[in-house]
Amino acid sequence: MKTLLLVTASLVLAGANTSKLVAQGPAPTPPMGWNSWNHFAGKVTDADVRSAADAMVSSGMRDAGYVYVNVDDTWEGKRDAQGVIHSNEKFPDMKALGDYIHSKGLKFGIYSSPGPKTCAGYEASYGHEEQDAKTYAGWGVDYLKYDLCSMHTMMQKLDEEHNGDHTLSHKMMLDAYKKMGDALKATGRPIVYSLCQYGVDDVWVWGPSVGAQLWRTTDDIDDSYGRMITIGLGQADLNSYAGHGHWNDPDMLEVGNGKMSTDEYKTHMSLWALLAAPLLAGNDLSKMSYTDKSILMNREVIAIDQDKLGVQAKRVYQHGDFSAWAKPLSGGRVAVGLVNTSWSFRDLTVTLKELGITGSVKVHDVWANKDLGTVNGTLNAHIPKHGVALFVLSK
Ligand code: GAL
Repeated sequence: MKTLLLVTASLVLAGANTSKLVAQGPAPTPPMGWNSWNHFAGKVTDADVRSAADAMVSSGMRDAGYVYVNVDDTWEGKRDAQGVIHSNEKFPDMKALGDYIHSKGLKFGIYSSPGPKTCAGYEASYGHEEQDAKTYAGWGVDYLKYDLCSMHTMMQKLDEEHNGDHTLSHKMMLDAYKKMGDALKATGRPIVYSLCQYGVDDVWVWGPSVGAQLWRTTDDIDDSYGRMITIGLGQADLNSYAGHGHWNDPDMLEVGNGKMSTDEYKTHMSLWALLAAPLLAGNDLSKMSYTDKSILMNREVIAIDQDKLGVQAKRVYQHGDFSAWAKPLSGGRVAVGLVNTSWSFRDLTVTLKELGITGSVKVHDVWANKDLGTVNGTLNAHIPKHGVALFVLSK
């Protein structure tokens, strides 16, 4: 048995706090859907988005809970003489695209930035917040990802002009995010407001005050184990900032994009579920393998993510290549993830005591979909390189 460093052991199987069960705003649980960026990046077209919507239905993803179809950067065209934003030639008719997505029982997401330009250099919302919010509402938009980008450059310039004093630039950013948050609210349409600013100035502290339901906590993910695991494990101290209606966002999923092993993608999906992260698939939904589907649509993993308690997992241990994560679930259950970041199979053991659990528990292995019986004392798992064991414990 490995000796484990006990970081915290505050889990109890019974007596979960039910006072927070009231749904709040347009994202009572972490939003689920798809976003165009991770796979299509700047090449995305109207046809790609329609085909993602089609596949979301035909693959069963919609019925598994994935509803948002989000167009990321590079849809933007020019503003007209009245300042109204139009889409570019890749997206001939945004209202028609929104109608198509809605006709499938799905929701429509879009992307912009608080600065004058988006990250890909397209027209953004600076000085046009109310006008853009109205335009989006008119197109039937249900979700806005608002990406700092060129405003970050404006902030850095301001910092330089003020000898490194960050007060003004911090205020400029908050004001800009609040302006769009207020503008979205003023449309009267429930629109999920997702901040993308990579965690600058501890966004998790002030995100709710600008009207956001979620905020990126990190710089971009990519389709590599190294990047994914760095981001996933890096969320350890943020659990108290997530809760009903407001979520930490460790970035979109890479499952199905092909550069990680099946075990690594299972670790990715398990960690994101334990973290109560938004589950936004980032692959080409029209070309999914059986394995991609089985990872993205594992109902029990999704249920851990979407659990109505709305609690983000805590990392309860970190010792060398092993970490253990625990997420209290409704019904007095606890989801436990054991993560092996080493380069070989490892036998990992945690004592229930170390997890803060007294007495015996029933153990369900989520990925194996198997009840393992009652355990009293220790939880053991044989975990492959870069893999995970995901359990639900109940009394
Ligand atoms: C980045 C963002 C990505 C993607 C990209 C588009 O800043 O983190 O998720 O939206 O911009 O240009």
